[in-house]
Amino acid sequence: MKILPRLKIGKLQPKYPLMQGGMAIRVSTGKLAGAVAREGGIGLIAGSGMGLDELRNEIAIARSFANGGIVGINTMVAASGFRAIMETAAKAGIDVMIAGAGFSRDIFDIGREYDIPVVPIVSSDRVAVLSEKLGASAVVVEGCEAGGHLGTDRLARDIFPEVRAAVQIPVLLAGGVIDQHDIVEAFSTTKADGVQVGTRFAASFEANVDKAFHEVYLNSKKGDVFRIMSPVGLWGNALSTPFSDKAERGEMKPPSCNSCLKKCSRCFCIIQALIEARGGNLDKGLVFAGEHVYRINEILSVKDIFNMFFSGLDYLD
Ligand SMILES: Cc1cc2nc3c(=O)[nH]c(=O)nc-3n(C[C@H](O)[C@H](O)[C@H](O)COP(=O)(O)O)c2cc1C
Repeated sequence: MKILPRLKIGKLQPKYPLMQGGMAIRVSTGKLAGAVAREGGIGLIAGSGMGLDELRNEIAIARSFANGGIVGINTMVAASGFRAIMETAAKAGIDVMIAGAGFSRDIFDIGREYDIPVVPIVSSDRVAVLSEKLGASAVVVEGCEAGGHLGTDRLARDIFPEVRAAVQIPVLLAGGVIDQHDIVEAFSTTKADGVQVGTRFAASFEANVDKAFHEVYLNSKKGDVFRIMSPVGLWGNALSTPFSDKAERGEMKPPSCNSCLKKCSRCFCIIQALIEARGGNLDKGLVFAGEHVYRINEILSVKDIFNMFFSGLDYLD
């Protein structure tokens, strides 16, 4: 079936029109990003919460797996270290920069200075137009079905046509891409220039998570994903854990902390909760997941995910 567009982000042309979503904290590290890049997608390291030496090391690890493929960085704008993380990645020769969980003007300055394409995540045509004006090479439209922090209560497929009509740059679709059926829908019906995929790659062997994290994914049923108000002031999609149940009941104590976020309600520590979940400590951990996680029945390698997504599909031209 000839449905795949040739995605171009600035000077970058991945083999497949797919970007793996950045997933903090340390869910998408060098191993996952490098494996995605090697298979022909764009692999993203999630820089949020990383030290700068650690980040340089993860970029080197990604490069060692990537076989010349495209490796990028995603950092939450809400992180206090946002600028330092992005500049460090730029100096280390990252290929593309993505700002998540908020909008950043700083990133465009860094992109211009180092000649690196910038791709904001947007949830409206207004922010997409602003991004294009500021110099974005593409935008990702993320909807309320996606994993992680959310910028909207609308579905990506509802917002997508509005953004598509408002900008000339490539528009990627993020949210609910789990299998080949979704890939076909994204390119043939929605007419996306590319897709960004998070949850399906979190459920890969290369994702840097404990078995217990994967079990929460595999045991999930339709409707299990719920919205939790994150201390950063955004809703997030997550699966229930003993920790999230306590947080929902308002039973968490304010953390003593080092102000790692620019703005934080301190109702609990989101960074620590994501770190604990990644490590499999569900009593203290928050497991981010997209609404379609219940459709995932097995953990796969990145190679098998690419085969599952793209076998039998061909390019439009
Ligand atoms: C575990 C997890 C962590 C995430 N962390 C981030 C993040 O740090 N920054 C970001 O921009 N998006 C984050 N996301 C969103 C993804 O990058 C991606 O846009 C989203 O997962 C796409 O929807 P899907 O999960 O339905 O594929 C996260 C998603 C998951 C599942």
